[in-house]
Amino acid sequence: MKRIKIFDTTLRDGEQSPGASLTIMEKVVMAKQLARLGVDVIEAGFPIASEGDFEAVKAVAQSVKGPIICGLARANEKDIRRCWDAVKYAEKPRIHTFIATSKVHRDAKLRKTKEEIIAIAVEAVKFAKSLCDDVEFSPEDAARTSLDYMSDVVKAVIEAGATTINIPDTVGYAEPKEFGDRIRYLLEKVPSAGNVTISVHCHNDLGNAVANSLSAVENGATQVEGCMNGIGERAGNASLEEVVMNLHTRRDYFQAITAIHTPELYKTSKLLSDLTGLAVARNKAIVGENAFAHEAGIHQHGVLANKETYEIMTPESVGWKGNNIVIGKHSGKHAISALLKEERIDVTAEQLFLITEKVKGLADKQKDVERDDVIAIARDLVLEVSEEKQIIDLVEYNVTTGNNIMPTASIKLMVKGEMKIAAGIGDGPIDAAGNAICKLIDNSLKLEDYHLKAITGGTDALADVSVKMSDKEGHLFSGRAVDEDVITASVKAIIKAINKGFNDREKKLSQES
Ligand code: KIV
Ligand code: ZN
Repeated sequence: MKRIKIFDTTLRDGEQSPGASLTIMEKVVMAKQLARLGVDVIEAGFPIASEGDFEAVKAVAQSVKGPIICGLARANEKDIRRCWDAVKYAEKPRIHTFIATSKVHRDAKLRKTKEEIIAIAVEAVKFAKSLCDDVEFSPEDAARTSLDYMSDVVKAVIEAGATTINIPDTVGYAEPKEFGDRIRYLLEKVPSAGNVTISVHCHNDLGNAVANSLSAVENGATQVEGCMNGIGERAGNASLEEVVMNLHTRRDYFQAITAIHTPELYKTSKLLSDLTGLAVARNKAIVGENAFAHEAGIHQHGVLANKETYEIMTPESVGWKGNNIVIGKHSGKHAISALLKEERIDVTAEQLFLITEKVKGLADKQKDVERDDVIAIARDLVLEVSEEKQIIDLVEYNVTTGNNIMPTASIKLMVKGEMKIAAGIGDGPIDAAGNAICKLIDNSLKLEDYHLKAITGGTDALADVSVKMSDKEGHLFSGRAVDEDVITASVKAIIKAINKGFNDREKKLSQES
């Protein structure tokens, strides 16, 4: 059996999905879960892209043990040095550098000749190698690069010291057989490619990302890059859980294994969707809610007789637990503590007390409190007590709404220790409350994005609200909150986002001075 390495880029390429940005603390929480899942490499970000990205990669490098921690850098000294300054704290650091090689990128974006690009790539790899033993190189848009030129670039960067060569289908253009043939051609044309790790990185624009990655494995690739839940630029990257479960379920066919602990897959998928607010489609392979649901009577009958009639993998193998009701009014902190331990959510004694109180309060209101409710309450609380200062605090709010009146809200906030009150109107109660808050804080703030998710079914479900706000300079900041009441969750999420914006601004000012 050959061993396939799994390179997770959820925190870099995945985070480039619109609406998927994560705070430093959220990235660390996610990276720790990826380490438990058993990925070989975590690409934690693009350190030169922003101060926040740099700090996030550094924090992951400092706190996550096990996998290689990698950062992305364009092929120039400034990017590579910045990347090294962030990843150097890791047990096993990696620098991943790239430059585009296809004709359209060479002519329209880089305006460089083929020879100039090879020279830049070689210099970049040599410089990265002077800082870090483990260097990955990607010829961006490789799938649209001529086979011969791609091979020339790869040969040159291996001579310069690259230890992993990643072949990206940057725009999701390749077809499975064609992409597999490209990998086989490379291994035949460049003998030194057999001495390094050959990786693939496929985007999903034509829906082929997983099939292309698997075809590459059949043809000699030994590392696959992808993102949990298939998030990523545009239509996303190869979905890691799908790649892994193909290799796992069809070991007989691929003759390959990974180091992934598959029962952690569902939990990892859920954590990502909770942190980003990006929902997973119900029918999504492996981690969708319906992935193991048998609706048709004939299927149910078959499964009862023998699961193998309609199940090619067991729900347990991916860690699917279902939404069993776990907590009632009389359940205490031990039951909640056991559940949180199982979910590997670390809480202090004080946080456990607060979570228990909140869960009991919810159960008192006649609501069935389900496993996912408890997880959402705990994450909301644990991530709230972050490194951020609370500059604004909610004291109280009031809304009046109806089908024949203008929705109106009044809001009382504590802003830097001073009580402030304002009122606002809007298209609905949430819009009115948001307008009142912005009036108090800064009229140029805008609500750019709003997502509401019911944690578990029913009209009494907990509401999980994620928002994105922007300021007049176009900076985006996000907030998320969970509450039994949709409007309370929305008001809290807006206030969290504004606090995050203030904190970001303060950090930037202190770095400039
Ligand atoms: O899609 C792509 O080409 C990339 C590279 C930076 C590897 O993300
Ligand atoms: Zn990519």
